[in-house]
Amino acid sequence: MAAGSTDRKIDKLIHLLVQNAMVVVPGPKIASEIGVTRSTVWMWMEKLRSLGVEIKGVPSSGYRLVKIPDVLVPSLIRPELDDNQIGHTIVHYFRVGSTNDAALQLASRDAPHGTVVVAEEQTSGRGRLGRTWYSEPSSGIYVSVILRPPLAPTAAPVLTLMAGIAAQQALVSATGLAVDIRWPNDLLVGGRKVCGILTEMSAELDRLHAVVLGIGINVNHSEMPPELKKIATSLRMEGHKAWSRVQILIALLRELERHYGLLLADGNESMTRRWAAASSYAQGKRIRVVQGHDEFQATTTGLDSTGALRVRREDGREHLLVAGEIMEVR
Ligand code: BTN
Repeated sequence: MAAGSTDRKIDKLIHLLVQNAMVVVPGPKIASEIGVTRSTVWMWMEKLRSLGVEIKGVPSSGYRLVKIPDVLVPSLIRPELDDNQIGHTIVHYFRVGSTNDAALQLASRDAPHGTVVVAEEQTSGRGRLGRTWYSEPSSGIYVSVILRPPLAPTAAPVLTLMAGIAAQQALVSATGLAVDIRWPNDLLVGGRKVCGILTEMSAELDRLHAVVLGIGINVNHSEMPPELKKIATSLRMEGHKAWSRVQILIALLRELERHYGLLLADGNESMTRRWAAASSYAQGKRIRVVQGHDEFQATTTGLDSTGALRVRREDGREHLLVAGEIMEVR
């Protein structure tokens, strides 16, 4: 078990409650099936309640689940992924610094391709360009996926684009909302960000050892903090309802499996074409480009096969963006 990760027995407890959903399960039965004391069962029930899991205690009879819980534990996710490689091992935390840090550490200890690290809360979630990632407990999805691609380090940007397309398709299929992708891989609903992706890796000159795709999705936040209100939103705020994080994570892991397979089978160019078809930012979008201290306005003119964005400045000069940040100019 990874340090600090969720005790498999709590996972088993949630599974047992779900399998017996809506019936009263006696405390001693739960304790003996899981192999813990009754007081531990009581303590864990309190912990689950504090995370919003609705469990009714029926005096001298036992416990009854009021509603299927929306907790991202392996026992609720793993069975939905068939024989997929992505998600064959899922490490869950109730609270962790950053799932990317936990995944990078697991990767350095030889965790296999497809290992997933997921948390209900991050205390130091990281974003691109040295920013922090707002990680409200039990409202968002904070997940990192370890990939071991048989590819050169130059393929890393296309892996990031692949993750953006996979996340877009997962959100569209799970919610029906219209989701755009802003280069390189921010997902937007109604022009504001609902999902960000941070790709980190360990590599040698000619080979990627491990890539960690860190994905943060604002799912059930009922509002965003004041400093983010103008630029970020949540699926709940846009769809006017709460969504199942469990179902969204399952959809995301399935789409990552599918698109990773497509990238290996069809190559970079096919993936960048898919990206261009999925994003309003690929062609003809007026943008502001921020590259360190440099800022300028330009219009997008397509992607090259490495995933770099072509732009034309107002004076006609052409640029190829390989990193940095862009914003739409309205
Ligand atoms: C960005 O848009 O700036 C990227 C945000 C990435 C956030 C996710 S949440 C899961 C993973 N763990 C982290 O610390 N960051 C990524």
